[in-house]
Amino acid sequence: MNYRHAFHAGNAADCVKHALLVSLARAMLAKPKPLFVLDTHAGIGSYDLTAAEATRTGEFHNGIAKLRHSPPEALEDFVALSGTADRYNGSPALIRALLRPGDRLALCELHKEDAATLRRRFHGDPQIQIHQRDGYEALTALLPPPERRGLILIDPPFERTDEFAAITAGLGVAWRKFRTGVFAIWYPVKHRAPVRDLFDAIVTSAIPDVITCEVMFRPPLDPARLNGCGVLIVNAPYGFTTAAPPILNALRDRLAEPEGSAGISVLTEETPK
Ligand SMILES: C[S@@+](CC[C@H](N)C(=O)[O-])C[C@H]1O[C@@H](n2cnc3c(N)ncnc32)[C@H](O)[C@@H]1O
Repeated sequence: MNYRHAFHAGNAADCVKHALLVSLARAMLAKPKPLFVLDTHAGIGSYDLTAAEATRTGEFHNGIAKLRHSPPEALEDFVALSGTADRYNGSPALIRALLRPGDRLALCELHKEDAATLRRRFHGDPQIQIHQRDGYEALTALLPPPERRGLILIDPPFERTDEFAAITAGLGVAWRKFRTGVFAIWYPVKHRAPVRDLFDAIVTSAIPDVITCEVMFRPPLDPARLNGCGVLIVNAPYGFTTAAPPILNALRDRLAEPEGSAGISVLTEETPK
């Protein structure tokens, strides 16, 4: 396991993922019933942008740093929750800030040191459970939650060559155990072929009610670069599909090159891939 999210925190891909995550969580929290959130690949929770890892890559300069100055209205909520000038909040800290008493957050992180950092950060928080374990395995072990309402973020590092296949298998098992769960899966777009295969596998698996939200920073011509990314969502909550397009457009306007694009699609056999 070489991947450490501290080198990438607050980059353009994180902004796409987290702006959509905040909107999804808000839509789910509009209902009073308790919510369970599972973050299968949690990272360390929140990141120091002055630390050596962040400054070495400087990736946040092309991400959150471009949004914090007079953010567009559609991104105001996310930017306000994202931290201060020197800090960027990852998915655990973003979700924690939104939880109401009675809601619960389970965080899985396989990397020993990162899991320990996560434990220190949320030590004594009765609403958070931290597991140093494989996130895909947790999909089986922790679902369905007793709350019967759940948001599951699957955000792996794509270090494994079989990550797309692992996602398809993990989602299939998890959805069968928890058919009403809202699943959000982040995916990179370097070139389209693996994404096309992921979409085909999900359509074939017969999981209904799937949408994709994508921002392309540029056309995917150079497969060595992260040309865009998306979040695939199963069972998007009421209100999210109206809230998402302005968020995607605002992200494209601030973060993409002039030939970039953004959009939301319902995944069917006919969806252009
Ligand atoms: C992209 S980062 C997560 C970022 C985080 N979700 C956020 O949005 O702030 C992926 C994380 O998954 C961890 N990881 C890698 N393989 C894992 C596995 N099989 N199970 C759980 N965590 C894993 C990595 O150590 C890394 O911290």
